[in-house]
Amino acid sequence: MYLWSGLQHMNQTSMIADETPGDRWNPALYVERHSFVYELGQELIEVVNVQPGERILDIGCGTGQLTAQLAERGADVLGIDISPAMIEEAKNAYPDLAFEVGDASRLEIRQSFDVVFSNATLHWVTPAHDAAQRMADALKSGGRIVAEFGGSGNVRLIRAAICQALEDMGLGQEKFENPWFNPTIAEYVMILSHADLDVTFAHLFERPTPLEGTDGLHNWLEMFTRPYLVDLKPEVVHTVLKRAVEVARDDLFVDGSWYADYVRLRITARTRLLQSQGDDGLSRPV
Ligand code: BEZ
Repeated sequence: MYLWSGLQHMNQTSMIADETPGDRWNPALYVERHSFVYELGQELIEVVNVQPGERILDIGCGTGQLTAQLAERGADVLGIDISPAMIEEAKNAYPDLAFEVGDASRLEIRQSFDVVFSNATLHWVTPAHDAAQRMADALKSGGRIVAEFGGSGNVRLIRAAICQALEDMGLGQEKFENPWFNPTIAEYVMILSHADLDVTFAHLFERPTPLEGTDGLHNWLEMFTRPYLVDLKPEVVHTVLKRAVEVARDDLFVDGSWYADYVRLRITARTRLLQSQGDDGLSRPV
């Protein structure tokens, strides 16, 4: 749930030198234009099936709406997000709840939580192996993970439109550095398995997501892709994004609305119960 803060007025090179990833997200734009991120996350809250008093770590909590819903269901929550601005907003909105700035791939929490919850975040977090290990470390024995994020094929048409726009303008596709990690089910099961987590449910599904307003796709591109269009002047980036909108129109503008071609990977996992391995490398009950 991280949002680019729209620092379009700054020079691209100096902006990248000075900022940290956590500085890129704008809570006001998030609540105003992209509230669908946490609205669509409500279904995932039901998957958690919170038991009273459970300790839940919400990774990528953004402005805290889903963290608060977990707390309403009786959980003792900690929300973390890489963005200091988002965390400040979350603390203001929910002063009784605990929020901290934190990077999911560098967490240093040991065996404290019953559940690690994460909505619309893990596609930003790399290396994914590190994030998986840190989530596993944060869980008590018997704890579980409930997560949803962009899976294989996520924003394929949007990415293709950007690449096409770059080609059309005689710029190489390598000017777009894809920042997202969008695994298949099999890849993510392997990653969790390496962290001694057993997957209990996995579902990859398409969820075309409406983008608000007649400039919906343009706003989305400005917010999420600008930092990854490298070595281009801001005005050139603007033209690339306008061209990408034209390219995507046939596929993503439907009945008067823009859609993002989101594909979600919803996954639940639990800490491993089987611990010993036989000569064949397969797990045996202890
Ligand atoms: C997503 O939720 O899938 C997403 C959000 C922003 C950029 C890319 C993907």
